[in-house]
Amino acid sequence: MTGTDTKDRSFRRNLRPILAELDIYDAPPADPTFVRLHANECPEPWPDEVMDDLADVIRGIELGRYPDTSGRMLREVLARDYGVTPAEVILGNGSDEVISLLVTALSGRPGATCVLPRPTFVMYAHAAKVAGLAVDEVDLTADLDLDEATLSARLARDEAAVCFLARPNNPTGSLWARDRIEALVRAHPHVVFVVDEAYVAYAGEPTMFRPDRPENLVVMGTLSKVGLAALRVGYCIAHPDLARALDTVRHPYNVSQTSLALACRVLTRHRGVLDALVARTRANRSRLSALLSRLPGARVHPSAGNMVLVGLPRPEVAATVRADLAKRRILVKDLSGTPGLDPRRGYLRASVGTSDELDRLEAVLDELGT
Ligand SMILES: Cc1ncc(COP(=O)(O)O)c(C=O)c1O
Repeated sequence: MTGTDTKDRSFRRNLRPILAELDIYDAPPADPTFVRLHANECPEPWPDEVMDDLADVIRGIELGRYPDTSGRMLREVLARDYGVTPAEVILGNGSDEVISLLVTALSGRPGATCVLPRPTFVMYAHAAKVAGLAVDEVDLTADLDLDEATLSARLARDEAAVCFLARPNNPTGSLWARDRIEALVRAHPHVVFVVDEAYVAYAGEPTMFRPDRPENLVVMGTLSKVGLAALRVGYCIAHPDLARALDTVRHPYNVSQTSLALACRVLTRHRGVLDALVARTRANRSRLSALLSRLPGARVHPSAGNMVLVGLPRPEVAATVRADLAKRRILVKDLSGTPGLDPRRGYLRASVGTSDELDRLEAVLDELGT
């Protein structure tokens, strides 16, 4: 029986109908002995001295006590970084949670839409639909750039409430021009623009945040892509009125004490090490691109993130390459068939591995004769 069946007297009739249409985001645990290039992580290991220091932080945690309700200490660290007040910083259990807070807070008008370029990070559309927003997607151009004219027309509609722009974008790695995004933000003051800077550390460009930003610009960040994905710490910087709304939606204690304490320690004592992990990953990106360009008929898209998208002649070619690599214990993501990408072509996305992991990839490509 479904939720729409009028005779259904079970709990199912109360489920939101959209939930039946949505996939569950799930990835089975990957074997840690595999080269895991499928999840856009930063795999560079933290040095032993840092791990020892973090172990001391864990030892100091009072397990019987709640953490701070809103992660004040970490909010203060981030507020100093951005030159804002802590009241403008909202933390989430990963930026996934921040996305949910945003779409929930901004779903106040019937028919409200979330405008998105396509393809982009899947959780924007997912969270928006769960929150009851309609999703209005605009395909990227053939060279994976923003189609500003179409986007602008959708954003001009009265029902447009929020627009997420990942800069750099996942899965394409594209870095859309900052001045063109700023123009969209200015042109549509009734829309909240969330510039998602999850991968900005790899872009070689500073944040789009500036103290004199328009009130409808939110900058979102995460520690997940800079070697701390296990912590689940994301955040955004928002106008105080919006921040208050997000804080009202947010559950108290949404980030664990372990994550808050470890994030604070890394950002206050080990930032140089974090920067070095990111720099090594960034340096390995061109090697990954060169390796992927050896695949049959490959078109490697330029990337400003820690992942590289490669187009292949047909979806079957991508499926075969993915399977051949998986048989040899290397995981990449097959994105063929992703709406917004050319359906006739195949696509693989691989994140930048460590030098050892790229050595393994190179050896496997040699073995496969590509
Ligand atoms: C663009 C973008 N934003 C946000 C996230 C989610 O980050 P978090 O781990 O902070 O939830 C991802 C994860 O892949 C992403 O690609």
